[in-house]
Amino acid sequence: MEKFLNQISEEMAKAFEAAGYDRELGKVTVSNRPDLCEYQCNGAMAGAKRYHKAPIMIATDVAANLADSAIFSSVEAVKPGFLNLTIKEAFLTSYLTQMGKEEKFGLQVPEKPASIILDYGGPNVAKPLHVGHLRSAVIGEAVKRIARYHGENVIGDIHLGDWGLQMGLVITEVSKRQPDLPYFDPAFDGAYPEAAPFTVSELEEIYPTASKRSKEDADYYAEAMANTHRLQEGDKGLRALWNKIIEVSVADMKKNYANLDVDFDLWWGESTVHDAIPGMVEDMKAGGFAYESNGALVVDVAEETDSKEIPPCIILKSDGAALYTTTDLATIKERTRLYHPDQIIYITDKRQELHFQQVFRTAKKCGLVADGTQLRHIGFGTMNGKDGKPFKTRDGGVMKLSTLIADIQAEMRTKIASNPEIGPEEAEKTAKQVALAALKYGDLSNQASKDYIFDIDRFTSFEGDTGPYILYTIVRIKSILAKYAAQEGAKAVKDCVLIEAQSKAEKALMSDLAGFNAMMDTAYTEIAPHKICAYIYQLSNDFNSFYHSTKILSEEDPAKKESWIALLSLALGILSTCIDVLGFSAPERM
Ligand code: ARG
Repeated sequence: MEKFLNQISEEMAKAFEAAGYDRELGKVTVSNRPDLCEYQCNGAMAGAKRYHKAPIMIATDVAANLADSAIFSSVEAVKPGFLNLTIKEAFLTSYLTQMGKEEKFGLQVPEKPASIILDYGGPNVAKPLHVGHLRSAVIGEAVKRIARYHGENVIGDIHLGDWGLQMGLVITEVSKRQPDLPYFDPAFDGAYPEAAPFTVSELEEIYPTASKRSKEDADYYAEAMANTHRLQEGDKGLRALWNKIIEVSVADMKKNYANLDVDFDLWWGESTVHDAIPGMVEDMKAGGFAYESNGALVVDVAEETDSKEIPPCIILKSDGAALYTTTDLATIKERTRLYHPDQIIYITDKRQELHFQQVFRTAKKCGLVADGTQLRHIGFGTMNGKDGKPFKTRDGGVMKLSTLIADIQAEMRTKIASNPEIGPEEAEKTAKQVALAALKYGDLSNQASKDYIFDIDRFTSFEGDTGPYILYTIVRIKSILAKYAAQEGAKAVKDCVLIEAQSKAEKALMSDLAGFNAMMDTAYTEIAPHKICAYIYQLSNDFNSFYHSTKILSEEDPAKKESWIALLSLALGILSTCIDVLGFSAPERM
C-alpha cells in the first residue's frame, strides 16, 4: 500500500503541475505547527527563485487547484508562502480501513528479500555475560525482528568469543587446581570423562582469578599463552577440555538469552573458522595484499580521503598467532562462501569502530567478500549508572547480566503485587514480562550510538516514556475490547466498521496509525529501533487522550461505538506488532 504521506504528496504534486509548476515541489510533511494545521507543504517557498514569483502567489495558485480535493478538507496559502493542510476525515477513514485489511497493515515488502547476516550478542565463553553484552543482544534482536518484519531474510549469528587468551587462562588455572585430570596427560589415550570438571559458577570464578594471576605473574602469563597456542594447534587433551568449557558456558548463555527472549540461528564462534585461516592468509600474501612489517603480517588499509590515520590491519602477530581481526576476516569469507549475503551487520560497542573499519577495508581489498555486499557496523554507546559512569555493582564490580535482570524483576514484582486482582502465579509471570519491557524499552528508546543512564526507577515507572507505560496502554485497549466482546461476541469485534473521526483527539490517533508504514520502513532502512519507540510513545499518548475524552462502551450511537472498537482493534494490532519487533510482549492485565 502506498504510504500515507506519499499519497497526499501525490495529490499536492498534481496541483503544482496543474498550476504550471514542477510537481517535485509538492512534497508534504507532518506539520511542525500542529496548532495551525495537520500537514504542510513548503514547495512554494522553494519554487520562488526558479519562477521569479513571490512564494505566496505560487501557494495561492496551487491552493486554488485543490478546492475540491478528495484528500484535503482545507488548503490554506499563508504568508510568506506556506501551504497549511488539513486532511479530510473520510480520506483518513478509508486509508485506515484499507490498512486493516492488508497484510502487515499495508507495509510494502521488497520484491526480492535481501539476505542479511546479523552478528550480535558476541559473548565470551567462560566469562559471565555482563551488561555490556546486554546492549548488543537487545539491539541485535530488535534489528533482526525489524528486518524480518520488513520482509528480509535474516540469519542471526552469536559470534562467540571462544578462541582467545581467555581460553588459555581458564585451561591454565584448571591445570593448577586439578593437575591430575587426563586432559593434561600427553600419554592419555582413553576416552575423556563425560562430566565437566567444573560448574558454571566455578567457571565464572576461575576466569577472573586466572586473569588476575596472569597480570601479577609473568610465568603464569607465559603458560597461559603457551596453552592458548597448544589449544589452537590442536592439542587433543586441551581441545577436549575446551569442549567442556564451551558446553558448560553455552548452556548457561542459552538460559540467560532465553530470559531475554533473544535467540540465534547460528552459534558460530571465533574458533569455527580456525581451519580456514591458513588458506586465507596464503591468498592474501599471494595476491600481494599482505606483507611483513616488524615481523607481523599486515595489510595496508589507509585511504587518501581519511581524515584521521587508519593503521594497517594486522593479520598475524610476529609469533604467527591469529588475532580478533583474523577470525573476523575468515568469518566474512566463510559467510560469503555459504550464504552470499547482501549485507553483514555487526552490533557492538562503538569503541570497536576502528577494528571494523580495518576489517571491512581488508575484506574488500582482498576480495574476501563480494563487491556488492554491504558491511555495516552499528556501534552503540555505554550504559551508565546514575552517576554517569559505566554501570557497576554497588561495590564497584562488573554487574552480571543475571543480577541486573533479577533486580529489575524484583522491582516489578513489588509493583504488580499491589494489584489485588492478580494472583501470585500470574503476578510472577507478569512481573517478568513487564520487567523485560522496562529493560528493553529503556535501552532501545535511545538512539543506539548514544550513551544512556540505566535508571531502574524511571524504567519501571508506569508513566512517561517507558516500556511499562506502553504495556499499560495496550492492556487498557485489550480490556475494552474484551468487555465489548463479552457483550457482543468476539465476531462482532471483527465486523465493526470505522467511520469518520468525531473529535480532534480521535483524528490525531488516526493520523498516527496512518503513519505506521513510513515509520516501519525508516526504522528498517536506518537500523533505528528508537524510531519505533518514539512512534509507540506518541501513539500511546494520543490513544490515552482519546480514551480520556471519549466514553467508548457507554456510547449509545452504535455506529460511533462500533467505529471506536474498530479503531481500537487497529491500534492494538499496530502496537502489538511494534513491541513484538522490539522484542517484548504485553500481558492480559497488570
Ligand atoms: N566477543 C566480542 C566482545 O566481547 C564481540 C564480538 C563481536 N562480533 C564480531 N564479529 N567481532 O567484545
